[in-house]
Amino acid sequence: MNISQKFLIYRKKPNQSEPNYQRFEVPVKPGMSILEALFYIQDHFDSSLTFRYSCRGAICGSCGLTIDKLPQLACKTQIFQVKSTQKPLKLPELNFGRIKNDWDKENEILIEPLPNMKIIKDLVVDMEPFWRFYEHVEPYFAREYRDIQPESLQSPEEARSIEHLVYCILCGICWTCPVNAKNSQYLGPAALAKAYRFIGDTRLSKIRRSEIVHQVSIKYGVPACEKYYVCNRVCPKGVRPGTAIKDIREKYLV
Ligand code: FES
Repeated sequence: MNISQKFLIYRKKPNQSEPNYQRFEVPVKPGMSILEALFYIQDHFDSSLTFRYSCRGAICGSCGLTIDKLPQLACKTQIFQVKSTQKPLKLPELNFGRIKNDWDKENEILIEPLPNMKIIKDLVVDMEPFWRFYEHVEPYFAREYRDIQPESLQSPEEARSIEHLVYCILCGICWTCPVNAKNSQYLGPAALAKAYRFIGDTRLSKIRRSEIVHQVSIKYGVPACEKYYVCNRVCPKGVRPGTAIKDIREKYLV
């Protein structure tokens, strides 16, 4: 039996002011991902359809898209699960422009770019601010040597307290945060979570810790978070940036 799935896809050229949404129908099979459907469209209907990907294994963080109004990784999201998966509660409304002839929510999978970033073309967004803010927190390691051993020991509990932060793949999906929507200076959940991955690491030197705390305590850093916790709910890797921001605020900014 041949099964097909309808898609409604955001299209916009760099010089175009308004997007146009284009419809495609793709033959699908169980286990097929949204990314594979985009490849099919590119190969069979329109080679100019533009999107990012690299690893196809939910590791590189390149393929973040908004799928049926929920930001997700295209390579990790299976077509057959899009309509049946329960969406996280209290997500902000994401609006990318007017859809002519309306979106048939039951039968069409809607594909749009990531929210709160400038759109370059079709599904590709400009992540320059995201990386600039990431660099701002200077997320790298420096430790104090306390003994003659080359190792710097950490207990399993100490490692566990920052473990979820290590899984961040910097996909930018957490920029769904309503603060990113209204404040282009906000460092954002990913950079702040990455900062806490180092601040909260017991092996970090005191100097390095105080430098990173200083970088995130600026007006548009931790103090700008409004505690929506949308970032916790949308992260495809189970990272809890909102919780990390809360921890920095409570433990280091008092
Ligand atoms: S292609 Fe690398 S995370 Fe999806």
